[in-house]
Amino acid sequence: MNFFLFCFSVFHYPLSIMLILTIETSCDETSIAIGKIANQKIKLLSHVVSSQIKLHAKWGGVVPNLAAREHLKNLVPVLDAAIREAGFGNSVYLARKIDLVGVTQGPGLIPSLLMGVNFAKSLAYIWRKPLIPINHMEAHLYTSWVKALPRTFSFRDKPFPMLALLISGGHTMLVMVKKHLEYKVLGETLDDAAGEAFDKVARILGLGYPGGPQLSKIAQRGCPDFEFPVPLKNSRDLNFSFSGLKTAVLYKALKLAGNKKNIKDIFSRVPKPDLNIPLTRRQKADLACAFQAVAVESLMEQAKKALARYPAKTAVLGGGVAANALLRERFSREIPREFPKTRVLLPPVELTGDNAAMLIPVTYLKWQKAGRARRDAYGKNWQSLEAKANLDLNVS
Ligand code: KG4
Ligand code: ZN
Repeated sequence: MNFFLFCFSVFHYPLSIMLILTIETSCDETSIAIGKIANQKIKLLSHVVSSQIKLHAKWGGVVPNLAAREHLKNLVPVLDAAIREAGFGNSVYLARKIDLVGVTQGPGLIPSLLMGVNFAKSLAYIWRKPLIPINHMEAHLYTSWVKALPRTFSFRDKPFPMLALLISGGHTMLVMVKKHLEYKVLGETLDDAAGEAFDKVARILGLGYPGGPQLSKIAQRGCPDFEFPVPLKNSRDLNFSFSGLKTAVLYKALKLAGNKKNIKDIFSRVPKPDLNIPLTRRQKADLACAFQAVAVESLMEQAKKALARYPAKTAVLGGGVAANALLRERFSREIPREFPKTRVLLPPVELTGDNAAMLIPVTYLKWQKAGRARRDAYGKNWQSLEAKANLDLNVS
């Protein structure tokens, strides 16, 4: 059972008491949360996350159709667990109490998104509730506004402009937030996302899926006498690139293993969870350490470049890679030192992965911001809402 009390600044909007149910199925987590908003606080009444990691691990990555099948199987039991955890007894009683339903519309894997969106449409139809589509990256962005109990929370008064570094398995973005729900994307990845690079390097090292957490763990034991070049170090723009770094790790791994593996063989037989490159534990730790140092350096470089160009009052992290300990440590130490006017906010580690709780603040803000016409449209979304694999951050 997860009970968080979390809060966020809602000074720009009138406050009211509302009950919100949110659904997230963008990738391989089926998650439903129920939150109550009152007195400028969100109390999370229940939060259930059902992970499919074990199922996908043997394939070395998420298999979209398998993920969809699992969501289909899990959605009703996860809803039932969320209702019971919140103390509502049954869905009929909840239906009377709930004010809004929020759902991840995209970006993500389309077979997975379709399951959540269609489930949400059915609930919105049967319960006659407004259905609010949420952008997955926007939900990640808002996790820095919350703090899990028992840590105390102070309101983030006037945090704008705010720079957000959003880093997940599918995206890497630098976003300037001018005010609630208004974004300017300053830079994105040109190839692999940061989390994808962690996962692919983990596969090179034979660490299993998802590789990010495992890779950062063994990196602590590494002490390499080699280093990789930082991608796009001298570029003027604010984009990212991780594909070359991943290939550099592969070549170095093969070299360390005495070229005992044919590169063509490695690339021709995908997907498979482990490339079986014969590396020692020490070599794996060194490669992990060297890779992580450069990946984090690249994220820090671009975030600092962005802050130098676009001064911000607040800098935040969001997305699965925001759990990375080295990045969290460097982000919170170096940014306030080099940009004394910028305050750093980090999301609680337990909210960095995909989860439905992170949709609650955005669902509420979108409803508060909407005029009558938009609210009417939300009321009819049970009919027409579409899942979108490549949903843009600025589409509200
Ligand atoms: O946001 P998320 O849970 O799912 C997507 O929206 O993609 O992000 C998942 C990504 C995976 O690539 C995973 O390896 C990475 O986040 N990740 C990490 C760490 N924990 C999760 N990457 C680096 N260090 C970590 N500690
Ligand atoms: Zn995510």
